[in-house]
Amino acid sequence: MLRQDINELLTQTGPGTPMGELFRQYWIPALLAEELPENDSPPVRVKLLSERLVAFRDSEGRYGLIDEFCAHRGASLWFGRNEEAGLRCPYHGWKYDHTGQCIEVPSEADNSSFCENVKLTSYPLVKVGDLLWTHMGDPAKRPGLPEYEFLHVPPEQTYTSKRWQQSNWLQAFEGGIDSSHVTFLHSGGLKSDPLFKGAKGNEYNMKDTKPFFEVADTEGGLFVGARRNAEPGTYYWRITPWVMPAFTMVPPRGDHPMHGHFWVPIDDHNCWTYSFDYHPVRSLTEQERQAMIDGHGVHSKNIPGTYRPMANMDNDYLIDREAQKRGETYSGVAGIAMQDASLQESMGPIVDRTKERLVPADSGIIKARQKLYKSAVALRDKGQTPPGVDPEHHRVRSAAVVLPAAESFLDSCRDAVKVVPGAPQASV
Ligand code: FES
Ligand SMILES: [Fe+2]
Repeated sequence: MLRQDINELLTQTGPGTPMGELFRQYWIPALLAEELPENDSPPVRVKLLSERLVAFRDSEGRYGLIDEFCAHRGASLWFGRNEEAGLRCPYHGWKYDHTGQCIEVPSEADNSSFCENVKLTSYPLVKVGDLLWTHMGDPAKRPGLPEYEFLHVPPEQTYTSKRWQQSNWLQAFEGGIDSSHVTFLHSGGLKSDPLFKGAKGNEYNMKDTKPFFEVADTEGGLFVGARRNAEPGTYYWRITPWVMPAFTMVPPRGDHPMHGHFWVPIDDHNCWTYSFDYHPVRSLTEQERQAMIDGHGVHSKNIPGTYRPMANMDNDYLIDREAQKRGETYSGVAGIAMQDASLQESMGPIVDRTKERLVPADSGIIKARQKLYKSAVALRDKGQTPPGVDPEHHRVRSAAVVLPAAESFLDSCRDAVKVVPGAPQASV
């Protein structure tokens, strides 16, 4: 269990909160690049860390992420006209550039000197990989751009999707470092999902329902090692990296692409789950890419034109009790992503962690909370830069390996959990 005040500290990310300030130290995903597909395409509403913003791509291809509301009398700039290198409020025509600077007040005679003093809050918006990233903290402390491997392999080797999750970011993230649920909740997917099935590791996963956890501190976060029995005298290790604040990678399965997530708070009751797949050394096959688009693996099938999953809390995630009885799914919900989301959302928008009963299989979660708490307090009280801000910390991989029983996972896997361009993943 967790004290109520610590639960609040870890789950609240609005401006001025300790965890909100922590998130504002990092580059975080703001949108998929596909949401602003061309110059002068329609602006997009973006709520991040409880701030309401609007994103646009101007006539010259510059990305802007600015306050959603017009400085004049507060109309939403989502209704704005994106034209001639700026976003124009359709109410009285005030116009802003990609930095939020007001550049025209057409209803007033002498508008140029007036404009100079009108500037909306704005944040940088930069394309890295298939994502647009923002940094909402102090520009003087802006770190180097993200270096996660999935962003830097050739485009044919990677695919990223996103979905709206109706829960606080922390309970979503906690699912990402919780290897023990896989044997239960995702048992159907291990047998049938085109992006998971067929790996030797799946057999170890299914046979040993009681993994032993070993958690190692790293410069940027943690490595959570889950150990299961393999052949006599050996163990199957699944190693999940976490880079602060909210990047995790699922341990791979055979030669399937590797995947992972980034959880980004929208506000305290909602988050974006960004889900990516990539293969470090080869292109994704057509079938793999299609499976991802169809919502297999870590991805979801969304309502067309939105990032809301088709299976959602309003339709009980299309639960199929017959499929559950037949053993096709463990919970009755189809798809790995929605199996996770359904249960994480079922806890309520912010789970009451004062009531939980943690067990040794939750040790990764316990360590992650401790590290988040310590980092948020050290930032608040001493201005200390938290782990994971340095792009060096991003160069990690997950791994799934069989090791002799006597070997420690960290000593044996130092190379396997590092990004080595051109080297395949360590995976069984
Ligand atoms: S409210 Fe935007 S120009 Fe008046
Ligand atoms: Fe899961």
